[in-house]
Amino acid sequence: MLKSFRLPADHGTHVLEDYAKTRSDFDWKQAETGFSWFQTGKINAAYEMIDRHVAEGKGNKIALRYSDATRDEQYSFADLMHLSGKAAHLLRNQAEVVKGDRVFIFMPRTPELYILFLGAIKAGAIVGPLFEAFMEDAVRDRLSDSEAKVLCTTPELLSRVPVDELPHLKHIILIGDTVGTNGFYIDYKQAMQEANADFPIEWMAREDGMILHYTSGSTGKPKGVLHVHQAMIQHAQTGRWVLDFQEDDIYWCTADPGWVTGTSYGVFAPWLNGVTIVVRGGRFSAEDWYQTIEKNKVTIWYSAPTAFRMLLSAGNALPAKYNLSTLRHVLSVGEPLNPEVIKWGWEVFQKRIHDTWWMTETGAQMICNIPTMEIKAGSMGKPLPGITAAIVDDDGQELPPNTMGNLAIKKGWPSMMRAIWNNPEKYNAYFTLNDWYVSGDSAYMDEDGYFWFQGRVDDVIMTSGERIGPFEVESKLVEHPAVSEAGVIGISDPIRGKIIKAFISLREGFEATEALKHEIYQFVKNGLAAHAAPRQIDFKEKLPKTRSGKIMRRVLKAWELNLPVGDLSTLED
Ligand code: WTA
Repeated sequence: MLKSFRLPADHGTHVLEDYAKTRSDFDWKQAETGFSWFQTGKINAAYEMIDRHVAEGKGNKIALRYSDATRDEQYSFADLMHLSGKAAHLLRNQAEVVKGDRVFIFMPRTPELYILFLGAIKAGAIVGPLFEAFMEDAVRDRLSDSEAKVLCTTPELLSRVPVDELPHLKHIILIGDTVGTNGFYIDYKQAMQEANADFPIEWMAREDGMILHYTSGSTGKPKGVLHVHQAMIQHAQTGRWVLDFQEDDIYWCTADPGWVTGTSYGVFAPWLNGVTIVVRGGRFSAEDWYQTIEKNKVTIWYSAPTAFRMLLSAGNALPAKYNLSTLRHVLSVGEPLNPEVIKWGWEVFQKRIHDTWWMTETGAQMICNIPTMEIKAGSMGKPLPGITAAIVDDDGQELPPNTMGNLAIKKGWPSMMRAIWNNPEKYNAYFTLNDWYVSGDSAYMDEDGYFWFQGRVDDVIMTSGERIGPFEVESKLVEHPAVSEAGVIGISDPIRGKIIKAFISLREGFEATEALKHEIYQFVKNGLAAHAAPRQIDFKEKLPKTRSGKIMRRVLKAWELNLPVGDLSTLED
């Protein structure tokens, strides 16, 4: 048995009270000393999230409260230790998972998702969560790039998994009513019944892979961003500083684990701190969300601007019907948080909404409004202790305050991505300016050290808080028989932040009709994902391209905004 590690009982003492002092003193090594592996050298994030709390006598504490339209369940830390041990056995013995194998999870948010997630990590696998709304192309790209060995999914989603095109896939674990096990397909329910709960955890090195999140850049297919077990020290520490976790908190992170917020802050940060999480399955509705807060007596709530704007547009009479007084701390991530939303949060909840900035690649929060900090509405806050952020020009020179430039982070924080899967060139491209990681966001820093988001430097589109690469959408569009060429940009939308707009030139013999627009929209929705489908389409005779054949999205944006198109010297003709 491992030597036990302790989180001090007075979690409050960890909360960042003196930003300036902590900032000047802090070194990430200090955050490591709280973990058992600091002494034992035995590292596994699933152990630290679950088993450790049981070893420390907190086995009966509720770890997960789950509900959807048909289920209402809770699981203690001891329950999850037991179930994730079984899941690890299942993965190891039946699905032949060994250390480093990629295990993907493609299913709706249910307790089984979390159990398999923990089980995969216990077994030493690299876990790859996929958003349940992904359609066949999106699933294929990710499973084939990562050479996934095992996929956990449901019978309902199976039709979106092109099994024949995935030579590396050795097993599919089916969660739901199935016909049983046949070697390739493994019946989760049956296998879990048979599996031993006492799994010998696979001890990892700090730098061993833990999780792979696919995310979009401006060119090429989505890339696999790899995080390692070491990342957990930043998940845990920011859980205390930024989320202000205390012993009795009930925490609701609304993000799906298919996105990085749903894992770093939906799983790792709360459970590393032994906090109870709420998971609500099913689709968004304002009533349902307010009810979820009331029913679970949620104290800390982490969501996104699009969700807040949807709640805001449902009116203030609705929240008045619910008891939301348990809320102590509210946070936001993923898109610019408008001052209007902050104002609304103050009116409706009497709470400040704390904006936080980070990315899939950074793995954890970087620039934040911490509880003890004055909020300047519209600013993302300040870099956390242990994080050096700056605004740099295109040569990597730091720019003075109030000057817009590239938002960059000094290399070397614990949760920094360690690789782009199978693509070292792409990885290195993030670090071309000396020791700076270049985020792809533009921003400025004011005279007080607060950072202000200005936009993306590249063509990445944030829609409803989800990150879309235009290339992935364009590639899908040109598969449609009517489409000759396609260029995709983001255009402003009052609720979703941005929506996707496609400029399309048609093949001979096709007519530009509303019906065709609808058909093309459906085509992307059914092939890729609903959130990636173009809500607006403009048919054009011809699209602006460079001589090497690249669509000039810059010109599309200028068309959209009726702006001068600028330098066209590289234009095709
Ligand atoms: C954007 C989400 C403005 C930004 C955790 C970044 C934000 C991208 C904020 C990463 C914020 C994230 N204000 N924009 N507080 N937080 N973004 O990888 O453009 O899905 O580069 O990670 O979201 O999106 P990702």
